[in-house]
Amino acid sequence: MVETKVDTQQDTSIKSGPVGVAESEMESGAKVPPVLAAYNITKEFNIPTPGLQREYIAAVDQVTVALQSKPAKIVSLVGESGSGKTTLARIMLGLTPPTRGVITYNGKPVKELTKAERFDYRRNVQPIFQDPFAIYNPFYRIDRVLDITIKNFKLASSKSEALELKREALQAVDLQPRDVIGRYPHQLSGGQCQRVMLARTFLLRPKVIIADEPVSMIDVAVRTLFLNNLLDFRDKYDISCLFITHHLATAYYMGGPMLVLCFGRVVESGNIDQLLANPSHPYTEQLLAAIPSPDPTARWTERANIKITERPLVRDFNKCVYVERCPYAMDICRQQRPPDYQVGDDHYAACFRHQGKPERVVEVPA
Ligand SMILES: Nc1ncnc2c1ncn2[C@@H]1O[C@H](COP(=O)(O)OP(=O)(O)OP(=O)(O)O)[C@@H](O)[C@H]1O
Ligand code: SF4
Ligand SMILES: [Mg+2]
Repeated sequence: MVETKVDTQQDTSIKSGPVGVAESEMESGAKVPPVLAAYNITKEFNIPTPGLQREYIAAVDQVTVALQSKPAKIVSLVGESGSGKTTLARIMLGLTPPTRGVITYNGKPVKELTKAERFDYRRNVQPIFQDPFAIYNPFYRIDRVLDITIKNFKLASSKSEALELKREALQAVDLQPRDVIGRYPHQLSGGQCQRVMLARTFLLRPKVIIADEPVSMIDVAVRTLFLNNLLDFRDKYDISCLFITHHLATAYYMGGPMLVLCFGRVVESGNIDQLLANPSHPYTEQLLAAIPSPDPTARWTERANIKITERPLVRDFNKCVYVERCPYAMDICRQQRPPDYQVGDDHYAACFRHQGKPERVVEVPA
């Protein structure tokens, strides 16, 4: 739930925490900041052009999202290929600097963290990447990643304690230690390799996992196991997750708040049930309408096939990102960037069709 305090009579704006932060936390007065938050993050990339002029695209364009600790939540970030999901993940992990915007860890800008705080951030914000095989060196036994983590973070004081930790971590992700310890990556399935990465994460009990399409390259039959592990982590260990996917049904399975990304911009966000029951941005509407199934959670991108051929350039900042394809486009859509309008209790859409409804203003910490 997102805080939605309605402002004065003079304007219709609402001040709000980022999507993903519980109302109680923001209203408690305790001012407990989210563990990890991205405020108005923009990332521009230079793209090659035939002429001398430099052109830029905004891979991520003013995205705000937060992951809190208690209660832990799984926030889904859904978007088609090229919509900026991985770029945002890398920025939140501290692997890529944003062009503009602020990443905070426990309320403090990551740039200002002390050495000890940075170590804490590295430990408590853990990645899971898409390709389960790319992470491992094929010449080393797979459980080496667990050994290294135990060693680097000084998690055990003896070999037997380290072995016990490894066993416990593997069992936490429904792997039998005897099926994993001592084996090489090629001797395991993609699903098993990905769950060893999750076991590595479990060793650290982080506060947040940034999972970038973690199940897209593993067998459908074992996807649910992996997703259930993440849900268990949330429920038993208060581990939140930014769950990145291009697969609507998977996001729906995970349940939490959802953000729909279109060319780097969040065009619709909020409670996933409200969003699917009442899609309020033409992009989301068309994606759902294109699914030839009455079930709105059915497979999305493969069938939707709504591709926008040209990614907007940075100079197109001041218009709607979807204007070239939108059947409802109006003059204003070419002249201004639509704000987030509140279209439901916990539901926002960046579309001028909702003009007159309260506009959301995200409060960025000073
Ligand atoms: N280092 C880079 N230099 C230039 N452009 C980049 C770079 N990294 C990403 N991009 C561009 O930024 C946009 C977003 O890329 P990104 O990888 O974040 O998308 P994605 O949503 O993760 O896509 P996919 O679902 O295919 O993984 C794309 O247009 C991509 O070509
Ligand atoms: S703002 Fe305008 S162009 Fe953009 S989605 Fe809404 S109606 Fe369409
Ligand atoms: Mg990606």
